[in-house]
Amino acid sequence: MCGIVGILGSQPVAPLMLDALRRLEYRGYDSAGIATLEDGELMRQRAPGKLNNLQGVLASRPLAGTTGIGHTRWATHGAPTENNAHPHAAKGVAVVHNGIIENFRELREELEQAGCDFETETDTEVIVQMISCELADGKSPVDAVKATLKRLDGAFALGIIFSGEQDLMIGARRGSPLAVGHGEAEMFLGSDAVALAPFTNKVTFLDEGDWVVLTRKSVHIFDENGAPVKRPVRFTKATAYMADKGNHRHFMAKEIAEQPEVIGHTLGEYIDMGEKRVKLPDLPFNFAGLSRLTITACGTAYYAGLAAKYWFEQVARLPVDIDIASEFRYREAPLAEGGLSVVISQSGETADTLAALRYCAEQGQHTLGIVNVQDSSIARDCDAIMPTYAGPEIGVASTKAFTCQLTVLACLALAAARDRNTITAERERELVSALLKVPRQIADMLRHEDDLKRIAKKLTDATDVLFLGRGINYPIALEGALKLKEISYIHAEGYAAGELKHGPIALIDKDVRVIVIAPHDALYEKTVSNMEEVAARGAKIVLLTDEINGNGNGSGTFEQFRVPKANAFVNPILYAVPVQLLAYHAAVFMGTDIDQPRNLAKSVTVE
Ligand code: F6R
Repeated sequence: MCGIVGILGSQPVAPLMLDALRRLEYRGYDSAGIATLEDGELMRQRAPGKLNNLQGVLASRPLAGTTGIGHTRWATHGAPTENNAHPHAAKGVAVVHNGIIENFRELREELEQAGCDFETETDTEVIVQMISCELADGKSPVDAVKATLKRLDGAFALGIIFSGEQDLMIGARRGSPLAVGHGEAEMFLGSDAVALAPFTNKVTFLDEGDWVVLTRKSVHIFDENGAPVKRPVRFTKATAYMADKGNHRHFMAKEIAEQPEVIGHTLGEYIDMGEKRVKLPDLPFNFAGLSRLTITACGTAYYAGLAAKYWFEQVARLPVDIDIASEFRYREAPLAEGGLSVVISQSGETADTLAALRYCAEQGQHTLGIVNVQDSSIARDCDAIMPTYAGPEIGVASTKAFTCQLTVLACLALAAARDRNTITAERERELVSALLKVPRQIADMLRHEDDLKRIAKKLTDATDVLFLGRGINYPIALEGALKLKEISYIHAEGYAAGELKHGPIALIDKDVRVIVIAPHDALYEKTVSNMEEVAARGAKIVLLTDEINGNGNGSGTFEQFRVPKANAFVNPILYAVPVQLLAYHAAVFMGTDIDQPRNLAKSVTVE
C-alpha cells in the first residue's frame, strides 16, 4: 500500500512527481523518494517521514531530468528510514515497489551467495539486485525484467527505469493496482487514476499479472506468460482536485461535517423520492431465490456489513454470513453456485477484500461491490457495483464513507425485502421516510458538536474506554472503539452490552470510561441494565440516547448526549456520528496526527 508514480515526460519531472505523490500519500507516508535520469545517469533523493521532508530535500538539492519514478511508502520490510526508502537502486536500475515479495529471503540468500552486497533491509532490493545481475549478464532491460518477474512470488506493483535509457520505463502488476496514463508524447505510470489526473484522463488499468513496456510514444502490454495483450484505454472521471480542508482544521472534521450532504446524495441515487420506495440500478441477480448472502470487508467497512446483517435478516429474512476478508479468503467457505456475495470497500483496493471477492467469483457466486472509488480494482472486478457517493475521503479514519456504506446497505436490504415479499409497500415507505430524515437529523446533531467536544476531553485521562451497544447498534460500538483507538491512541474496545459480564467487566474501575449506545428501541431496557452493572463497579458512563431524562436513564451516568429520535432502522447511521466526533475531539486534545495517524495508511493494498 505504497504509492507509485512514473513519468516519461517532456519537462523536468521531479516537481510533477512530488505533486502526484501528494495525491498518493493516502497510501502511505512513512518515507518518500524520487529517482530521475540526469543526462542518462540515475540520481535519487529520499527522505524519511512525510512528503514535506522530501520536498525540503529537493528544494536544497533539486533533481533534473525528464524521466523519473517516485514513491511514497508504507513500511512492510525494514524500518521507515531514508536508507529503506524507495526508489531502490543498484548498478544501472532503479525500482519503486508497492506490495510484498514473499520469497525475498531465499532470493536474497541466493544473490548474496553470488556476491551481491545488500544496502537495505527491504524486500524490494532483491528485485533491484536481480535485474542488475541480469543486465550485467548482457540481457536487455526488457529481458532482465522478464527474467526477474518469473522469480518473484507475492503481490506487487513495480515501476522501473534504467541508466542510459531516457525513453524507457517498465511497469508490472501482480496483486497491487497499477495504471498507465497516455499523454501527448508523454507516458505515465501510477497506482491510481487520481495520481495521474493532472497529466491525462486516458488511462489503461493493467490486469492481474500484466507487465508493460513504455516509451514516450508506445505502450506494449504483456500478460503473465509474456504474450502481448491489448487492454482498453478508458477515459476516467478521476479529477486532479486535491480536496482542501475548507474551514476545517482536519480532513476528518470536514468529512464528518459533510455527512448530511453525502448521505443525501447517496439516498438520491437509490430512492425514488416521489414514491418513497427504493430504486436500485439493474442488478444481474434477484434476491427472491437466495438462501444466504455472504458479506466480506475489512475494518470500518466490515462494521457496516455487520450492521447490514441485522437489516437483511430482520427485514428481508435473508440469512447473512459475514466475515473479515483476511479470514474469509483462507477459510475455504463453501458457497452455493449462483449465490450472492457482497464486498464493501471505500478504496476498492483493499488486498484482502479483493482476494475474498475473487474467491467468491471462483465459487460461481454473483458479486456486488459497495465501493466509494468507482475506478478501483474491486469496482472493476465485481459483476455489479452500488457506489457510495461520499466523494473523496482523505482522512485516514473512515467517516463519511462508513455512513454512506450503511445508507447503501439499508437501501439494498429494503430492495431484498421487496424481492422476497417480506415487506409491505407501506412499511417500505415508512422505512424510506426514516432514511430520508437522516441527513437533517445528522445536521441537527452537528449543531451540538461542542457538547461532544466537552465530553471527549473527559475521555483523555481514561486508561481504557469501552463502547457498549446491543443489536444493530453493537457494530457501532465496535466502530466507535476502532475510531477512538486509531486516531487518539487511547485504548478502546467495543462489546455487545450483554457480553460484558462474561469477562470484560473485570476491567471496570474508576479509570475506565464506558460509552453506552442506547436508543429507546426494543433492547433499551436490557442495555440500561448492563449500564447499571458497570456503574455499580465505578465506571464513568457516557450515555448516547434519544430521550434524556433525570431518572429514566439509569444511575451513575457521567455525561449524556442526545441523538435525534428516529425509527430504530436508521439508528446505526445516526449513532455513528457522535462516536466519530468523540474520537475526533479526543484526538485533538491528545495532539495526535488526526488525518494521518501513526502506522496506518488509507488504502491497504497488502495482506
Ligand atoms: C478505519 C478504516 C479502516 C478501513 C479498512 C478497509 O477508520 O478506515 O478500518 O475501513 O482498512 O478499507 P476499505 O474500505 O478501503 O476497503
